[in-house]
Amino acid sequence: MVGFRCHGCGAQVDAGLALAFRCPNADGNDVDHVLVVDNEAPSPSIGSETDPFLRYRAWLSPYRLAREAGLPDTAWADLVGQLDNALTTVDGHGFRVTPMADRPALAEAFGLSGALFVKDETGNVSGSHKARHLMGVMLYLRVLETARLPAGDNIRSRRLAIASCGNAALAAAVVARAANWPLDVFIPPDADMSVKARLRELGAQITICDRRPGETGDPCYLRFREAVAAGAIPFGVQGTDNGLAIEGGRTLAFEMAEEFHRIGTIPDALFVQVGGGALASALAQGLALARANGLLPKLPKLITVQTAGCAPLARAWERLDGIDLATAAKTRSKFMWPWETTPSSLAHGILDDETYDWWAIAEGMRASGGSTVVVDEAQVAAAHRAGRTHTDIVASATGTAGLAGAIAKPEAGKQIAVIFSGVER
Ligand SMILES: Cc1ncc(COP(=O)(O)O)c(C=O)c1O
Repeated sequence: MVGFRCHGCGAQVDAGLALAFRCPNADGNDVDHVLVVDNEAPSPSIGSETDPFLRYRAWLSPYRLAREAGLPDTAWADLVGQLDNALTTVDGHGFRVTPMADRPALAEAFGLSGALFVKDETGNVSGSHKARHLMGVMLYLRVLETARLPAGDNIRSRRLAIASCGNAALAAAVVARAANWPLDVFIPPDADMSVKARLRELGAQITICDRRPGETGDPCYLRFREAVAAGAIPFGVQGTDNGLAIEGGRTLAFEMAEEFHRIGTIPDALFVQVGGGALASALAQGLALARANGLLPKLPKLITVQTAGCAPLARAWERLDGIDLATAAKTRSKFMWPWETTPSSLAHGILDDETYDWWAIAEGMRASGGSTVVVDEAQVAAAHRAGRTHTDIVASATGTAGLAGAIAKPEAGKQIAVIFSGVER
């Protein structure tokens, strides 16, 4: 069985029998509920393909589910291939291993003496790494349909839903369009005009969410939750609502680990910009798996980066000092709650008021000897400017915010790695 387990309450979900998205016990207590893959593949092989969803298929639970349900390897290749063709029509190209290179000019600009590896996700599907998360979810849905598994009963009659007005929404709209699956996007009234226009072009149904009198919390998220309660499929990247979304993002870590293995260099530290936490959580899990499967002799320190305007993960990390993570998972509200003030930053894509998947990130930081770092706006701006000046990568300030962390914490290591994501629009 391909099983998922809640890292907070231990609930188990058979991914063929029920949707492995939100923990069945998620509502009404102080446990941190997120579903994670329970039984990882033993010694998974790496293919020779350049599409990460083919190359690392043996590492992915939807692939294992397909095989267990009796579908041949070629059926997976067909599912990935059909989506790849459709992505090419919708977005110009499908998923390919993205480039990573040492950027000496960028390193020199900050007086860094060792290698500075930049993984470039700006050319990925829909312009950021976000589509990786949602491709993982879509492949799971397609496997359920194709293998006629009970978790997939009537699934086509249910719409997809996401609360986002940035890279995640664009990624969801591209993947949903490629799969010809209707999508509802819940966005705030001040969402960017160009994002709205592109979402409409991609056929997404937009709902503008005004704050209702007396209501607390993000209105877009509240409307999204209502849609899901009414039957929509959570197609966002928040681990609490869809643990399986983290999995597709792990392909990014596999690609990096394979390249580090090939060149024989493991950076001392990996700096990652954190909003809702899916990216850092996927990297932490993916690198741990790569290490367990012999690709990495050691883990780079995972250093997570937030801006001074909104740093709920850094706040949680301080409170976790000396506390056992298993205990912390049972008392979520002591560590994670919505940021109280309305933040602003040049890196506006990482201003999520909660780091939904904080627990798995904390586990990754502990396992690797990492930490959090909080950057100021001057460092965010300097990283953005340097990225544009000293590389040919056109990344947004959100997408270069990991580098701002390296500026703020030069003592973290000689060789470092960052991810540039989110093409500047
Ligand atoms: C370009 C870019 N990088 C990083 C992040 C952070 O990802 P997460 O929200 O999964 O922490 C985002 C989130 O919107 C993003 O758009």
